[in-house]
Amino acid sequence: MADPTGDYISSLFAREDELLISLREEADRSGLPPISISPDEGRLLQVLLRAIGARRVLEVGTLGGYSAIWMARALPADGELLSIELDPDHAAFATRYIARAGLEARVRIRVGRALDVLPALDGELFDAVFLDADKEPLPTYLEWALRLVRPGGLVMADNALWGGKVIDPNVDDAATRAVREFNQRFASEPRLTGIVVPTHDGVAIGIINE
Ligand code: SAH
Ligand code: DHB
Ligand code: MG
Repeated sequence: MADPTGDYISSLFAREDELLISLREEADRSGLPPISISPDEGRLLQVLLRAIGARRVLEVGTLGGYSAIWMARALPADGELLSIELDPDHAAFATRYIARAGLEARVRIRVGRALDVLPALDGELFDAVFLDADKEPLPTYLEWALRLVRPGGLVMADNALWGGKVIDPNVDDAATRAVREFNQRFASEPRLTGIVVPTHDGVAIGIINE
């Protein structure tokens, strides 16, 4: 996705180090889909996590670990990021890079379908959740996020604009309908104070009201 103003922001605030550059290059060579978050989005997630003093974060959709590394770097040394990934090859790739980043103590990957893993987490509390997996279940992922995040914590989601398809009246596929439904619920949910910012492909950001 060409994003010249995003690139300008990234060049100032979100320069990738060698590790993140080589992660992306190897992910491309290995045939992983090129759908990681952007550097400016990584920086936005870091700012938000730092703003709430996050120690414990849940991610849905690890891919190669790119967003996990951005987020884990914003956590304290004893912080914890749990990331759920369906594809064992993606999880293995991410595990390798998380170790290379020296973050193996802070990041754990749970391999499985999010809709199977999330119920097993019921009763746990996270400071923040980042939703970035398949789109059809997004309304259900939002329900889980509302259960699993503490008051004052953050619910964040990638792809809230879904390449502009959310506002295209000619698009009516299941994923796009689900992103629209997610955004509508996110906007009207009384437990959240939320917004979508247009960084990258749209980032939904909501604070759980205390
Ligand atoms: N957050 C990553 C990108 C995630 S891409 C980053 O920015 O670096 C979406 C990922 O979600 C893919 O790796 C895909 O395998 C995974 N995924 C898709 N459906 C899933 C499901 N039902 N449960 C868990 N993971 C899923
Ligand atoms: C796609 C992009 C994403 O960022 C994501 O999380 C899932 C899917 C896509 O373009 O298909
Ligand atoms: Mg995404």
